[in-house]
Amino acid sequence: MIGTRQIPYWLFGATALAALGTVIGPLTLFGISEQGWQLAARYTVRVSFPLFLLTYLARPLTTFWRSNATRWMLRNRRYLGLSFALAHTIHLGALTSYFVFIEQSPDVATLVGGGLAYALMFLMAATSNDQSVRGMGANWGRLHTIGLHYLWLIFLVTYLGRLSGGEGGNQTDALFMVGIVGSGLTFCALALRLAAAWKSLSRRATT
Ligand code: HEM
Repeated sequence: MIGTRQIPYWLFGATALAALGTVIGPLTLFGISEQGWQLAARYTVRVSFPLFLLTYLARPLTTFWRSNATRWMLRNRRYLGLSFALAHTIHLGALTSYFVFIEQSPDVATLVGGGLAYALMFLMAATSNDQSVRGMGANWGRLHTIGLHYLWLIFLVTYLGRLSGGEGGNQTDALFMVGIVGSGLTFCALALRLAAAWKSLSRRATT
């Protein structure tokens, strides 16, 4: 079964195209400028976040809704996770260019919190193969569960940060909405995972 996995190369192609589009788009519209790089950093997450959610929810969705789509997600969870890592690496490229362009550094808390998230993400990507699953035993599950939930936490903290405002004009309203939708989806995703875990536990207890 493990050896006969079909790799959905189109998913990586589509992810690379979409994430690069979110960089090239703002840079074309606003030029190689502070605004261009800032929007590139912002919009790359709009590709990586949905891929994160699909990876995070692949199993719980199958617990509640068995369909071709959810079965496909579960079968391809590894590749969804790797696509997320690809898109989020492009976020890293865009945000690095932004800070280099404005000749500033992110604050220490962002560097440490975000840096740890990237370290975990790269570790998870590097161990997303059959050999690592076999070789690492129970530690594989620990790394991927902790890593996934740490990334979940950084998404939540970042989206909740949007709710505190700080920027003027209409843009604040739009970013506030992004904060509401982003943190709402992040919370709902955890709720769905907990509900699925609860359902599996109670099913096991009654059999
Ligand atoms: C050291 C690491 C990181 C730095 C310096 C960083 C920096 C940035 C910057 C400059 C933006 C654009 C801000 C703006 O719109 O003004 C941004 C957006 C964002 N980042 Fe990162 N980031 C880092 C890591 C991460 C990680 C690991 C995650 C998630 C796990 C993440 C999630 C987000 C989210 C959710 C947004 C908002 C996207 C939106 O508005 O739609 N970032 N980040």
